Amino acid sequence: MLVDAYGREVTDLRISVTKRCNFSCIYCHDEGLGPIDRPRTPHGEEMTPLEIERIVRAAREFDIHSVKFTGGEPLVRTDLVEIIARTVRHVEDVSLTTNGSMLAGRAESLRNAGLKRVNVSVDSLDPTAFREIRGGALAPVLAGVRAALRVGLKPVKLNLVVFRPTLPHIPELIRFASETDGLRVQLIEYMPELVGHRDWAVDIDGVKSWLESRADRVLVREMHHRRIYLFQGAEVEVVDPVGNAEFCNHCHRVRVTHKGELKGCLNRNDDLVPTRGLDDAALRNAFRTVVAQRVPYYGAYVRDYTPRGSETPLIQLQPFVPDSP
Ligand code: 5AD
Ligand code: SF4
Repeated sequence: MLVDAYGREVTDLRISVTKRCNFSCIYCHDEGLGPIDRPRTPHGEEMTPLEIERIVRAAREFDIHSVKFTGGEPLVRTDLVEIIARTVRHVEDVSLTTNGSMLAGRAESLRNAGLKRVNVSVDSLDPTAFREIRGGALAPVLAGVRAALRVGLKPVKLNLVVFRPTLPHIPELIRFASETDGLRVQLIEYMPELVGHRDWAVDIDGVKSWLESRADRVLVREMHHRRIYLFQGAEVEVVDPVGNAEFCNHCHRVRVTHKGELKGCLNRNDDLVPTRGLDDAALRNAFRTVVAQRVPYYGAYVRDYTPRGSETPLIQLQPFVPDSP
C-alpha cells in the first residue's frame, strides 16, 4: 500500500490513454496537460496496451484496486478493448469517463472485455446548447448512454460541469435521470484553474442549497460525509474540488498521462514522473516518488489562484435560480 506524507492511502489510478478528442468542450481542462489534440493528430507518444498493462500490474502490487480510463476521449483509441482486457487481468474495478459520442457501437464489446461502469458527460439535453458547450452532437451521446444501460454498464453516471452556460439545464438532466432506471447525475464544479474564464464560475454552495430544498431525500455518505440528493430515486451528487482543501484531503488518486508519466495531482504539472523504459524496480520507485511528492492541497501550486473564502475572491459568485425540476 502506498501512503503519502499526509496519511492518504493511494487506492485508485486514473489513466489518460490519449490527449486526442473529437469534441472541443469550452470548459475542458484536458487533465492539466495543455490543449487537446484533434483525433487525427499524430500520436506516436501514446502508451501501448502493453505499457498500460505494466503500469496497472505495478499499481496492483501496491494494492491499488480501481482504474478509471480517461483522455482526451478514450474511445478515440481503436485498441481500447485490448487495453481494458489487459487491465482487468490485474484490477477488477475498471471504469471509463467518455464523451459518449462513440459509445453506442462499442458498449457491448467494452463490457465483454470487462469494463464495469461508464461516466458520460451530458452537460445539457438541449441539442443547440449541447453543441455550443461541447462542439459536438447530442444524439449519438444519448444513444451511447442507452447502449451502456442496455448492456449493463450500470450505473451510468451523467457528468454535468456546473458553470454559467449549464445552470439552466440542471433541472432537466435531473428529471431525465429520475425517469430512467440506472442513471445517476454528477454535478461537477467548474474548475477554472487550467482553463481561465473565472467569470464562468458559479456559486456551488447555492447549487447545493437548491438541491437540498428540492430533493425528496438527502443521504449523507459515511465516507467523506458527502451528500447524495434523491429525486424520485435518482441519485444526484455534487463534486466540488475548487479551493476545497477538504476535497484534497480525501483524494486517494494517482494519475497517469498518455505518455506514461505518473502525476500526483490534476492541478499540478511540476510533479510528473516518467516511467517509460524503466525496469520493474525503477517503476516501483517511480510510484513511490510521485506519492512522496503529493501535497495536501493544490492551492499554493496554482499561480494566480485565490481559494474559496478568501477576502478578495477572483471568482464572482452568482446566485443560483433555476426552474424547478
Ligand atoms: N471543470 C470541471 N470538470 C471538468 N471536466 C473537464 N474539464 C473540466 C473543468 N474545467 C470533466 C468533465 C468531463 C471529465 C472528463 O472532466 O466532467 O466529463
Ligand atoms: Fe475535453 Fe472531454 Fe470535452 Fe473532449 S469531451 S473536449 S476531453 S472535456
